[in-house]
Formats: sequence, C-alpha cells, structure tokens
Amino acid sequence: MVVFSILGTFIVAKRYYAVKERNKMKIIKASDYEQLSEKAAKITIELVKEKPDAVLGLATGGTPVLTYKLLVDYHRKLHMSFRDVKTINLDEYIGLPEDHPQSYHYFMYNKLFNHIDIRPENIHIPRGNARNLAEECIRYDEILEILHPIDLQLLGIGSNGHIGFNEPGTPFSKKTYITKLSTSTRKANERFFQEEETVPEYAITMGIASILKSKKILLLASGKSKAEAVKQLVLGEMDEQFPASALKQHDNVTILADNQALEELQKVKRI
Ligand code: PGA
Repeated sequence: MVVFSILGTFIVAKRYYAVKERNKMKIIKASDYEQLSEKAAKITIELVKEKPDAVLGLATGGTPVLTYKLLVDYHRKLHMSFRDVKTINLDEYIGLPEDHPQSYHYFMYNKLFNHIDIRPENIHIPRGNARNLAEECIRYDEILEILHPIDLQLLGIGSNGHIGFNEPGTPFSKKTYITKLSTSTRKANERFFQEEETVPEYAITMGIASILKSKKILLLASGKSKAEAVKQLVLGEMDEQFPASALKQHDNVTILADNQALEELQKVKRI
C-alpha cells in the first residue's frame, strides 16, 4: 500500500514537473467573466498608455464583448485616446455583407470602433465579401507585414481548440487563407444568428504563423464550455488537431481564464 502511494506521488510529481518544463504559458485567474474582462481591458489600456501607436490584434465572439465595452468606458469616462492605435482583426465570415449584424465588421464597429477615437484608416478587418478572395488573402498578409509586429494579440478559443478560425488540422505554418468552418464551430455560433439564418460555411482567417509573430498573446477563456479546451491547451502536446497548442511555441502567451474555464485544469493541476 505504502509502496503504491509513494509510487503514485512520484508519478504525479514527475508529470507536473514535465508540464512545468515544457509549458511557458502564464495563467491569470479571474473569478468570473466580469473580472476577466476588467483584467483584459486593463492589460490593453496599459499597453496603449505606454505605446499610443500600439498594434492590437483583435478577436470577435462572445468573450471579448465586455472587454471592448470597458475600453469604450475608458475612452468616454477617462478620456483614454485610441487615436494612433492600429488594429488588425483575426477573421471574417465569407459572404456576409459588412453591414450584416453577424459580420465581424459590424461587430467591431458596433462594439468598439464607433465609440472610440481610432482613425478609420488604422482599422483592418479581412473582407469576407471581396470579389477575389485569393487576392484578399495576399492583401491581408501585406497589411500584416506592414504592421508587424502586433504588440498584443487578443484571442478567444473554440471548444475544439480553434484560434481565429483556424480549425483542427490546420498546419501551423499557414498565413491568411480561406477556411471551411467545422460543424462544431458553426453549431457554437448559431446562437448569434436568427433562426431562419444559417451560419456561413467559410471564413477568411489570419493563419497561425501570423498569430505566432505577435509580440504578446492574450488568450481569453470564460465559462464551462471552455474548460476542456483550457485543460488541453495547458497540459496537452503540440498537435495540429488542436490549433491552440501552436501557442506552446511562443514565449509570451498569457491565458486569462475565469474559474469556470479553469475547472477541469484545476482538477489535475494546482495553479
Ligand atoms: P466565443 O468564441 O468568444 O464566442 O466563445 C471564441 C472562439 O470561437 O474563438
């Protein structure tokens, strides 16, 4: 019995050690979605104060909504200026007009850009309704090169591990490209669309290679539906079937997650 428990402790300790050795990602805990958003907004604001012409890589989806609202509050109430900030978004659906309420153009203007003093020419979002999508991918990569490096890239994470719209199986070497959305991603995003609408099948997304060129990456995860993905991100191996695992190659990644999103990880790892 004693032998087994000593052996067990050794195996567990060794596994923790191995994880610590391999994993440079920093984890910031938040009690809930509100606190997570406050911390994300604060990290962004501190960067912009220090570097008023910072390049921000921005994400869409449910997770950053409150973060953007708080940035708007900083602008309105504390006169924080975003005048010289440059932004570059991760992705956009193919085939939705820019004024469609579910397009990521609409989302970004509605949640953030219309309410701060950023200059329109400093805003970059891939055009999912470009006539020539291959050319649009090239244009976006050129913008990325001009803006390089992104000072802070905000990311969400899909429950299947996607970052941007880089779905499982995407080579980590990809730059901007047209991707077919997985069934689980389309299902997860149905909640944003009207009943009679269908979630687009394709999207244009910044590739993983471009994401990895960012100076700092801040991945936001909130809620139980992200708990397995967060656990896999922290404890799993690098694997193209789990796109977020590419972040293990980067030396400045922070996972900012709330208690619910950390639930599964905390069952097996003290953080
Ligand atoms: P969510 O999406 O913020 O709506 O959960 C994140 C993502 O799919 O990247």
